[in-house]
Amino acid sequence: MWLPRHGIRSTRYAIAILLSITSTVGLASEPLAYYGFDVQDHSAAAQEGLQEIFCGRCFHNAVPLVTARMLLRAVAGSPKKLGYDPDSADGRFYASGRLPSPPNRTSGADPSFGLGESVFVRDGAQLVNINCFTCHAGVVNGQVVAGLANNHVNQSDPKNLRTRGDNFGPYAVWRLGAQLADPANEGMVVAKEKTELETLFESVELPPVDPMPWWLMKYKKLDYWYADAGIHDAASFSINFTTAHPEMNAHHADHVKVVAKALAFARETQSPLFPNSLDGELVRKGADLFHGRTPPAETRGFVSCKTCHGTYTRKESQTDLNQSGSWAVAYDFSHVLRNLKTDGSYNATLQKLKPIADHINKLEVYFTAQGIPELIPHAAVPSQDGYVAPPLVGVWASAPYFHNGSVPTIEAVLNSETRPEIWARDNRDPHAYDLEKVGMRYRSLSRAEFEQSAAGAVGKPFLSRAAIDHGANYDTKGFGHGNSGHTFGDRLSADERRAVIEFLKSLSGPDM
Ligand code: HEC
Ligand code: HEC
Repeated sequence: MWLPRHGIRSTRYAIAILLSITSTVGLASEPLAYYGFDVQDHSAAAQEGLQEIFCGRCFHNAVPLVTARMLLRAVAGSPKKLGYDPDSADGRFYASGRLPSPPNRTSGADPSFGLGESVFVRDGAQLVNINCFTCHAGVVNGQVVAGLANNHVNQSDPKNLRTRGDNFGPYAVWRLGAQLADPANEGMVVAKEKTELETLFESVELPPVDPMPWWLMKYKKLDYWYADAGIHDAASFSINFTTAHPEMNAHHADHVKVVAKALAFARETQSPLFPNSLDGELVRKGADLFHGRTPPAETRGFVSCKTCHGTYTRKESQTDLNQSGSWAVAYDFSHVLRNLKTDGSYNATLQKLKPIADHINKLEVYFTAQGIPELIPHAAVPSQDGYVAPPLVGVWASAPYFHNGSVPTIEAVLNSETRPEIWARDNRDPHAYDLEKVGMRYRSLSRAEFEQSAAGAVGKPFLSRAAIDHGANYDTKGFGHGNSGHTFGDRLSADERRAVIEFLKSLSGPDM
């Protein structure tokens, strides 16, 4: 099989992810619920978009199914030796956060693979690849939600202190951009030799990102990047999902159309309702604090949350504050970066990639000359430090928090003293979620315990328990993993914080 030089790394990446997939679909010990995959009442474009995501056409790169099956058999290992069964649904979730497909999935499904993989035929060959849901469908409290970031995806690497949930997906755009030979004159043709920009890209250390949930897109003028690099349409996005192949220019227009449909689906996703009943009085109190209508007892250093996160007004259709949802959202801050001393590495790394953004933007000359301006992408890096303050709709479900997923619960976001320095996420139970502190269930580790776990994991196979369990540990002292900053909530009393959290729980559901 011929593999393009540049495809090799991404093929390896796809294989690495596929290797963690097992060969039978079982049912989790307790059944999982699904939310957002039934889209009869969505627009036609969104319905098509869901099918495009499932069928696998959003990514060009893929592995022949036979090869994938062979590799899977080769690495799976015996349950006895591994200490768990990698072929069970529980084992797949434990090993790499893979989730089963929803029962009504119609395209790209195969009994050997799950929600985040697509099996399809191209040019007569049966292929398998990851799809958007590998990273953009997650499980919260036993419910698999379309558009929620998968905070269990496993790209962890003990050598580099990378943690389960850390995501490097969006860097694909920079890698491909760096490979373009002469974008102004040759469009998407990639260089035969390694380019200087690739050397630049490889010299930069990559901090992890935790994607925002897709359901926030409908409130934002600019999509993408916590650090607002301004990539915000299908022409721009499609470059992130293209891996170099010989017919790039020929396929590009078609690919942009496919991605546009996937984005139409993404824009119509909705947040899941907070599952428990609420205390309406507390919601009212929290809403007043959030919007600065009543000041907290300790006002020094407190800035009302609405200044950055938007204003939420109860709709007339539903005024019962014991029920979640039905808030009208006024938010216009998706283009504003605020530096609150949260970890600066992600923003700083993007700024270093400016020469690659400039290179990608030369495609404008090419697509203009070709008479297809609708394919012109827009790449940008942040013009200053800081991150976008997201709208907080459905925030109860999207733990861990901040752009790097460094804080496991909302309570700890709002009380910086309680943020754990090293914490281990529960990697076994898709039902595990903390509905009180609101966020991931975790265990705190001492530095010594962490070092011991790291020493035990280095050099161990990807599917070994030592490697998997160490991958669940998040060390906030690691590069790009800092949990500092955003200390507004520290000013709140325990009761005030409880009220704000109750209000945040209520910002959820399909009617928002
Ligand atoms: C390997 C993981 C991965 C895959 C696969 C992936 N993404 Fe993403 N995506 C990310 C990460 C990480 C971010 C967050 C980037 C940031 O905020 O800086 C992101 C961000 C986004 C956003 C921005 C959301 C917002 O609120 O602005 C959209 C839209 C998106 N991805 C769409 C897609 C689509 C469509 C696909 C499939 C064609 C896809 N992604 C596949 C990792 C992935
Ligand atoms: C001055 C602007 C500002 C104010 C005031 C502010 N925030 Fe934030 N908030 C941000 C920014 C920026 C982020 C993203 C930081 C990052 O990801 O590094 C954030 C992140 C968050 C998050 C995590 C969101 C996620 O999905 O990861 C929560 C929850 C939150 N803020 C709640 C609040 C509450 C409640 C208040 C009021 C007590 C508040 N914030 C006040 C700017 C602000």
